[in-house]
Amino acid sequence: MDIDLYSPDALKSPWPTVERIREEGPVVYNDQMQRWMITPDRLVRRVLMNYERFTVEKKREEGPSLFGPDAFIGIDDKERHDALRGVWSIAFQRASLERLRGVITEIADRMLNTMEARLRDGETVDSIRELCRDLPAYVIAHMLGVPSDMRPKIVEWSDLMGAAVGFPPSEWRPENPAWVAAETARQNIAKYILEQIDYRRRNPGDDLISQIVHSEIGKTLTDQAIMENSRQLLFAGNETTAKWLGHCMVVLAQHPDVREEVRLDRELLPVAVEEIMRWEPVVGTTFRSVRGGDIEVEGTLLRDGDRMMVMTGAANRDSERYVDPGKFNIHREFKANLGFGYGMHSCLGVTLARLETQITIGRVLDRIPNFALAGEVTYSSFQLRGPQTVPIRLQ
Ligand code: HEM
Repeated sequence: MDIDLYSPDALKSPWPTVERIREEGPVVYNDQMQRWMITPDRLVRRVLMNYERFTVEKKREEGPSLFGPDAFIGIDDKERHDALRGVWSIAFQRASLERLRGVITEIADRMLNTMEARLRDGETVDSIRELCRDLPAYVIAHMLGVPSDMRPKIVEWSDLMGAAVGFPPSEWRPENPAWVAAETARQNIAKYILEQIDYRRRNPGDDLISQIVHSEIGKTLTDQAIMENSRQLLFAGNETTAKWLGHCMVVLAQHPDVREEVRLDRELLPVAVEEIMRWEPVVGTTFRSVRGGDIEVEGTLLRDGDRMMVMTGAANRDSERYVDPGKFNIHREFKANLGFGYGMHSCLGVTLARLETQITIGRVLDRIPNFALAGEVTYSSFQLRGPQTVPIRLQ
């Protein structure tokens, strides 16, 4: 199938394209991407669980070389993955994260102070720029032990790096200034984290860098490997959570009745943001490749080494799992969606992302419940999809 997920129409709304793929069958070859596309929820789950036959290890070749060869947490199926995930998993459990509730609320309120004042003056404000984009980066920078005066710089570098993820492969070239900016930012972050590793080795704290430096696996790793994994962690939570927040702003502005319902009954907030994740998923697709020989998947033969787009985003709108999946409905029967992946590589930061989103959107509902869209919303590509600008004003 000749499917272009980067076409202007697909950027505006990927869903007609996704439905075309679905109509062709559960396993469809994409000529442009040279990958098998998997769309049904049940099959996506099966593939993501079967890491013996479907590996993440070629994933590093699937995008711009953002993380480096030693950033293995998301791209290694073996012991190193589990050991590193084990070191950080305690910090990402609910009990540990609860301690961050105050910090997250304070960061959200600080950003909302400026935004609310401008809105009350009658201005139109881009809520991505003023709130959604920087908030998650400030939180993860705090967790990594980055001092507050350095955080704006880290956010700027992370943004420049993130811009490269949305580029189609044809744009990954040194003649592209945005690509060069992404590469430079990547090196700047590397230099900064390497300095932090050196400092934390001598001055341990309770931050994520100290935790890995002083762990059993940390002692077997080079500083470069520790840096690459820390940089991947810094990055993994920024763009994604910022985009989820952006989707929440758009969807709640488009559904003022739901917004009011949630404002009045805060117990609905967690299910509302989960339904936004199902309906407007941030990660449209993840990548795997076949290993250990050829394999038949629902009647289609995939060869050893074949590449796959495992379309978690498409699975979130699968009618086999969800009644009327194209409809946004916070009262639907609750079923876990695939917005945070599935299986051994499922999102390490899911609880943090939920906490940040619930707190931030809760504060938006407290402070500016009557916001409305004040201009066109444009989106980044299906692979990592979110609104790029969300201009709002008060009604
Ligand atoms: C809305 C926000 C987020 C979304 C939608 C999201 C989505 C995902 C998805 C779909 C995966 C699985 C990828 C795969 O199977 O190939 C994943 C993995 C991962 N995520 Fe997230 N994520 C979010 C926030 C975060 C945050 C806040 C952090 C940490 C600060 C984080 C850290 C990670 C890490 C380290 C992995 C790799 C885990 C592993 O391979 O064991 N994510 N994420």
